[in-house]
Amino acid sequence: MTAKSAKDKDNAANALWGGRFAAGPDAIMEKINASIDVDRRLYKQDIAASRAHCRMLVATSIITAADGDAILKGLDTIEAEIDAGTFAFSAQLEDIHMNVEARLKDLIGEAAGRLHTARSRNDQVATDFRLWVRDAFDTLDNGIKDLQHSLLDRADEHAETIMPGFTHLQTAQPVTFGHHLLAYAEMFDRDRGRMQDARRRLNEAPLGAGALAGTSFPIDRQQTAADLGFDRPAGNSLDAVSDRDFAIEFLSACALTSVHLSRLAEEIVIWMSAPFRFVALSDAFSTGSSMMPQKRNPDAAELVRGKTGRIIGDLNALLITLKGLPLTYFKDMQEDKEPVFDAYDALALSVAAMSGMIQDLTVNAPAMRAAAAQGFSTATDLADWLVREADVPFRDAHDIAGRAVRLAEENDYADLAALSLDELKSVDSRLTAGVQDVLSVESSVASRTSYGGTAPTRVREQIVAFRQRVS
Ligand code: ARG
Repeated sequence: MTAKSAKDKDNAANALWGGRFAAGPDAIMEKINASIDVDRRLYKQDIAASRAHCRMLVATSIITAADGDAILKGLDTIEAEIDAGTFAFSAQLEDIHMNVEARLKDLIGEAAGRLHTARSRNDQVATDFRLWVRDAFDTLDNGIKDLQHSLLDRADEHAETIMPGFTHLQTAQPVTFGHHLLAYAEMFDRDRGRMQDARRRLNEAPLGAGALAGTSFPIDRQQTAADLGFDRPAGNSLDAVSDRDFAIEFLSACALTSVHLSRLAEEIVIWMSAPFRFVALSDAFSTGSSMMPQKRNPDAAELVRGKTGRIIGDLNALLITLKGLPLTYFKDMQEDKEPVFDAYDALALSVAAMSGMIQDLTVNAPAMRAAAAQGFSTATDLADWLVREADVPFRDAHDIAGRAVRLAEENDYADLAALSLDELKSVDSRLTAGVQDVLSVESSVASRTSYGGTAPTRVREQIVAFRQRVS
């Protein structure tokens, strides 16, 4: 390049970028093209897939055993270097695949060039990424299982602790705190189920699909698939290199898990607020205010709730990246890893933080019980008693209970249990002494013995069943 044309190029770059990028087009191209800062996280998977490919190439006599040995030794060295942090990653070499291959050439010379026989970066990256997402599913599954155990332990401890059950955030009926926590354990069970389902669908090997059409070399895709723990090779080479639905399913399962975590986090925020005071978090999971000495903020819960936004955003990002792409590979797809890594990091941390908070929570049982009695939360019990004991149709019983609530309100009573027998009789003569037994929050909760109901006996049964299931 002449001095003049170099100067023109600089001017062009400056005109385009207003001096913000001192660099010219070559550097800009390198920067937009390189993914090494992101996809270096795939190095273990990349090396594992290369080992499997190499062993297969030897077994099918596509390369010699001597070259195969040299390649495997070189890959061991590279893995050790990356593990130790001594590997020099280069943006010029674009991505993890080229970085590994270039280093292999430094280490073993010409034989390195044989590793890429019957392989393309397209089937290579699809394979590496599937392996990574598979591990991520397994790690998250373990983390969510630990969270379930935390919930089960606290549910067991609080199987009889009474709290208000809400609809519309209005006091509805008394429930137990144990029952409430178990509701989340159920949600997380389904989240794990979704991840396990998606993992099963993901477990097909793209390796051997080549750039898009397969290869003319006599490769053995069954061997590489089995070697890498896949159930089978993917059946269509075009699909194998071009779809990323496994990553979208991963993100979608993460997004929903995160929504569940966010709802629980929101409850912790509410429960910790001064008007509620149902729970407290220790210093380990909360912070003070720099100005207001009385405050304790549920930051960890707020952050779990906050991270849900970015995880849902990650799902949207990948859906939108893929939506306009014809078959097969486009460089757009290099943008697939960042949202997946980001969602994984955010979710794994959120799951751990939630598990920590659940273990850490101090429960204020008297505050919960007092709130449970407010709002005449046993009105349904009064109506049910009339149906059961006086054969009153439920609609009429509902009306009578409503009148009892009005009377208690007029008298400024805290709850229905404060109504005297005479007062009850003045509402309806069929209300006799026995009804007073069902108006306390304790008897209300104890009576909800239908399967899955809030009665402590039922909650305990569910905990036992859960513990067997969540192994
Ligand atoms: N770094 C690339 C990616 O993540 C690897 C595949 C490159 N393939 C290609 N045909 N340029 O998508």
